Amino acid sequence: MSHIHAIDPAAPDRALLARAASLLQRGQLVAFPTETVYGLGANALDPTAVQRIYEAKGRPEYNPLIVHLSGAASAQRLVTTWPEAAERLTKRWWPGPLTIVLPKAMGIPSEVTAGLGTVALRVPAHPVALALLQVCGFPLAAPSANRSGAVSPTTAAHVAAGLGEQVPMILDGGPTSVGIESTVVDLSGPRPVLLRPGMISREELEAEIGPVELAEGAPAGEAPRASPGMLDRHYAPNARVVLLGPGGHLPSGLPSADRVAALMRSLPLPSVAGHGVTLPSDPAGYARELYGALHQLDAGGVSIILVEAPPDEPAWAGIRDRLHRATHP
Ligand code: TXA
Ligand code: MG
Repeated sequence: MSHIHAIDPAAPDRALLARAASLLQRGQLVAFPTETVYGLGANALDPTAVQRIYEAKGRPEYNPLIVHLSGAASAQRLVTTWPEAAERLTKRWWPGPLTIVLPKAMGIPSEVTAGLGTVALRVPAHPVALALLQVCGFPLAAPSANRSGAVSPTTAAHVAAGLGEQVPMILDGGPTSVGIESTVVDLSGPRPVLLRPGMISREELEAEIGPVELAEGAPAGEAPRASPGMLDRHYAPNARVVLLGPGGHLPSGLPSADRVAALMRSLPLPSVAGHGVTLPSDPAGYARELYGALHQLDAGGVSIILVEAPPDEPAWAGIRDRLHRATHP
């Protein structure tokens, strides 16, 4: 059913990359691995190709896309300013799980930016993504390769299960290493604003460029909500997700154990859960395995997933954000 092509990150097959680039050149979609999650790529300079991303994902048209590049020099060509903060952050974290938002240059289709005057840019730290970008020679607009609102894919199999025939080619570079989406920081205004927390924390950003505000409307310590597309239920499995706070009170009226799953970290599996996964206790390990566990438990057909709340510490902020979004009704 699928068009999954294994590709070795240590030595990406040039012929396969050339086929992928040729599809992209002709306006088709190609899913590819990044270090965070799999992306659904289209030529960012081709409005018709970019439109296909929205159709394949069922993505609302007001939610702009991240443009992926092979290096900072190509990023600078897509913006009208390159402030000191952009220089510092990208020197430190590119290639890597950091996306910056800056005023966009002419020539970027409005489909990419959902009509905004700004564009989101990222250089991914994955050899397959970088090799593909180099062979293409044009930037790739790429959201996570899942149906809009669903849990992001961290394997090629997740992409195939979620989008199937809608993607002509899926490059399978194995499971992703970071596991949750990039940190998004808006540098287009007078002060930097954190739009989406990730594994690069607000505190790490601040050590590099000084104070970083939380997006407007974000309750302290909670998820930013002001980025376009961030108001929606996001990153959510089919099952209802319930966070177990400190003390771990179980909700009442639970279904039978075979319909209940638990995602734990430090606590033992509760006896009410017929299925369980224990994730690593460190944030990097936890993030790497989180979406895989949610995909797996969801595929098991459970109706509720009890999740042990992660610690209220900076290193866990990106993970807490995704789990809170997953609990939206
Ligand atoms: O790790 C990642 O960032 C992955 C991989 C594939 O690179 N991509 C990803 O894309 O998560 P997506 O489309 O699922 O999330 C992009 C986020 C959205 O929340 C969107 O609202 C925000 O970036 N965004 C994009 N352009 C923006 C802009 N001009 N201003 C503000 N937010 C923007
Ligand atoms: Mg996404």
